[in-house]
Amino acid sequence: KEIPSMPGQYQLSLKQLEKTVGEAVDAGLRSLMLFGIPKHKDAIASEAYAPNGIVQRAIRMLKAKWPDLQVVTDVCLCEYTSHGHCGILKEGDTCGEVVNDPTLELLAKTALSHVEAGADMVAPSDMMDGRILAIRETLDKAGYVNTPIMSYAVKYASAFYGPFRDAAESAPHHGDRKTYQMDPANGKEAMREVAEDIAEGADLIIAKPAMAYMDIIKDISTNFNIPIVAYNVSGEYAMVKAAAANGWIDEKKIVMENMIGMKRAGAKMIITYHALDVARWIREEE
Ligand code: PBG
Ligand code: ZN
Repeated sequence: KEIPSMPGQYQLSLKQLEKTVGEAVDAGLRSLMLFGIPKHKDAIASEAYAPNGIVQRAIRMLKAKWPDLQVVTDVCLCEYTSHGHCGILKEGDTCGEVVNDPTLELLAKTALSHVEAGADMVAPSDMMDGRILAIRETLDKAGYVNTPIMSYAVKYASAFYGPFRDAAESAPHHGDRKTYQMDPANGKEAMREVAEDIAEGADLIIAKPAMAYMDIIKDISTNFNIPIVAYNVSGEYAMVKAAAANGWIDEKKIVMENMIGMKRAGAKMIITYHALDVARWIREEE
């Protein structure tokens, strides 16, 4: 199913995923990130950690076919909860106030189920406090001491995630994510979040959105010795695609300028929906 607000991006079945990943591998891409949409959503996000959930099955299929492909998973509950929040809520909640600590257990369980299915790295995006440590301890206890954690440490409560929520069918039904995501006006908090996640055991740090937060990417890269990943989010993608579709901008030039901007700010890796195009453009130039 094509996602209307993200032209060129689709919700994929396992069969179509195999085809799409085949094209990506042919274009030279070596890593990807998985997001899942379950058949059934409930209050405790049961399908997020089901051994036979859609993401767990996708990992097994991809790793069987491409053992060298780096398969990373987004670890969160919002695609799997009936209310659309990233954590679990108190009975009768009306404002979307997640209960932090009980959520940690479910996140750790989800991460472990991904790694058991063969994921090479997990990327928690929920923004609960203490989740990096909870996941690290759970993975270590199960013997996965070498599996890295890429933390969405710096994640702003942003309108730029709008199209993603259409794609993942994960918009909160009531309230918003401001009780767990960060205030866009606060730059210092980002440094505290990074420091905390490094102390808890994060191996890479994601900052998102990217374009309106280049100063934050730069600040992290000057203040911390850890790989930084810029997440070029759905709303950023949608704006470029819309302008390009109208013939108002040169899509390739704009996208590549954005990519260079993220690298210049200090990103070592980029997560982007333009990935397949970028890989092909780079190949053409070689
Ligand atoms: C899930 C998650 C989100 C994104 C990545 N993981 C959405 C959100 O927090 O609402 C955003 C991705 C994008 O906009 O491209 N927590
Ligand atoms: Zn979430």
